[in-house]
Amino acid sequence: MYRDRTCGELRLEDAGKEVTLAGWVQRTRKMGGMTFVDVRDRYGITQVVFNNEINKDLTEAANALGREFVVRIKGNVAERSSKNPNLPTGDIEVIAETLQVLNRSEVPPFTIEDNTDGGDDLRMKYRYLDLRRPCVRRNLELRHKMAFEIRRYLDSKGFLEIETPILVKSTPEGARDFVVPSRMNPGEFYALPQSPQLFKQLLMVSGYDRYFQIAKCFRDEDLRADRQPEFTQIDCEMSFVEQEDVIQMFEGLVKHIFKYVKNIDFTDPFPRITWNDAMRFYGSDKPDIRFGMKFVELNDVAKGHGFSVVDEAPLVVGIVAPGCAGYSRKQIDELTEFVKRPQVGAKGLIWVKFEPDGSIKSSVGKFFSEDELRKWGEKAEAKPGDLLLVITGEEMKARKQLCELRLEMGNRLGLRDRNVFAPLWVIDFPLFEWDDETQRYYAMHHPFTSPNPEDIPMLRTDTGKVRATAYDIVVNGTELGGGSIRIHDSELQNEMFELLGFTPERAKEQFGFLMNAFQYGAPPHGGLALGFDRFVSMLAGLDSIRDTIAFPKNNSGRDVMNESPSPIDDSQLQELCLTLNLPEKK
Ligand code: AMO
Repeated sequence: MYRDRTCGELRLEDAGKEVTLAGWVQRTRKMGGMTFVDVRDRYGITQVVFNNEINKDLTEAANALGREFVVRIKGNVAERSSKNPNLPTGDIEVIAETLQVLNRSEVPPFTIEDNTDGGDDLRMKYRYLDLRRPCVRRNLELRHKMAFEIRRYLDSKGFLEIETPILVKSTPEGARDFVVPSRMNPGEFYALPQSPQLFKQLLMVSGYDRYFQIAKCFRDEDLRADRQPEFTQIDCEMSFVEQEDVIQMFEGLVKHIFKYVKNIDFTDPFPRITWNDAMRFYGSDKPDIRFGMKFVELNDVAKGHGFSVVDEAPLVVGIVAPGCAGYSRKQIDELTEFVKRPQVGAKGLIWVKFEPDGSIKSSVGKFFSEDELRKWGEKAEAKPGDLLLVITGEEMKARKQLCELRLEMGNRLGLRDRNVFAPLWVIDFPLFEWDDETQRYYAMHHPFTSPNPEDIPMLRTDTGKVRATAYDIVVNGTELGGGSIRIHDSELQNEMFELLGFTPERAKEQFGFLMNAFQYGAPPHGGLALGFDRFVSMLAGLDSIRDTIAFPKNNSGRDVMNESPSPIDDSQLQELCLTLNLPEKK
């Protein structure tokens, strides 16, 4: 046996025992005739002591150890004279009797500690060393625990985990596909699944009425902190259900995991908000409701006073920043710059300060009397000491810009505590989204989402207003998951394809297998998928989902450790009957 104890388990009650440990040298310290070596493994760190006076050769061998050498040490557990309360093993140390170097190590390019000196790129290049850091390891441990508990929970509810293929058919809706050329079928390609959507629907046709899968999904889209090109979903589908059944089931799962990981009890049902109200009050379909600052529309009190910026804008909308009337010119300028950044895109920011003494100061004081501005304040329910921030413009744009400003104010005022969790359901999404560029409707969720039955008569007359039976679960401004009740009627599905601009031939070519399956008794069904990486990262309090993934990609979709993607050999290209037509390098 290489070891009989781990580096994280020895305690005071083990004093006097002989143990064998194996692990990596975190650091060595020489103090007088003593040498202290911190040995680390997956479970923790144990201090090992070498005493020059007792064993000179052994202590010299310890002095020669470098960082990250792999060692095996036999020794006796002893109570420490100066204890380290910050370390679970801090009450004891191991007095070394033998030291065996199992392997040497180059000097690592950064310190393998939570507070490392390694930058992002360096850590990703040497990810296998980065993964030794306890803070990274804890994230992977949490990921494992969550996956395990999710499986246990869903199993207890009768769900079967069924794997679906990774080499699938390319479909045009949604994000861009990653494609894989087929050697055996020259000129033809598989796609990697963006989600198991169609397969899980087929499983419902097959009668597996409760399916789940912790599934890898692949999307070739622009990356952000909460997006990876390959990510993991907790993908689920149920038969003989309505929206309410799906929401109840997965609210139960999410609550269970919050309790299990964070010991947080959500006793009340998660609030629900319609998509329309989410846009109206928060300018976002994933509102962060940890704090208020709901939008107030000011059209009726602001318009008609001869100020063109307001009069000519379809929407005048604001938020009240509580207690911010004291903001300095510099702070206001910062906010104005913030909304004018290209990522936000507003033309400017109107502010009104409701001073504690009842007076009013405003960037539009020249155009509006105090009484007129007081009406703005009344409408917005601003109190003395508050600051009203207003954006004008085209409806959706103004709302989205104000949404960014609201989140920024939430950050500035410390209202977005990552230890506070505010989940909610966003329901009644529109079924379609109009795209000006291509002049056609797109499915907001996917083409298999069922319209709200009440709105089916409007499918052709008021297409843009039809609501979907789709729902998202949102936590702290992040879309944790989404799903819908599906269309299980071929006729309605065909109508949907038609509205989305598919010819019957193209619909058949793309989704024929699903439509065929629907001829053989498709049950009513629906489901949802939760972003697993996002769920873990949220509960670990991380800024990016990358830290929950053992070997993630960077923002350009590259794995800088194994340097992929990479060119392939000409012989491989030939085998696949592919020639490259690369753009000229600039
Ligand atoms: P959707 O596309 O909304 O739905 O995805 C479900 C959830 O997956 C997560 N997610 C991502 N996480 C990391 N990186 C990404 N690039 C990424 N894209 C999505 C999000 C999201 O809420 N088949 C449907 C589900 C259904 O209808 O049942 C689907 O994939 O947390």
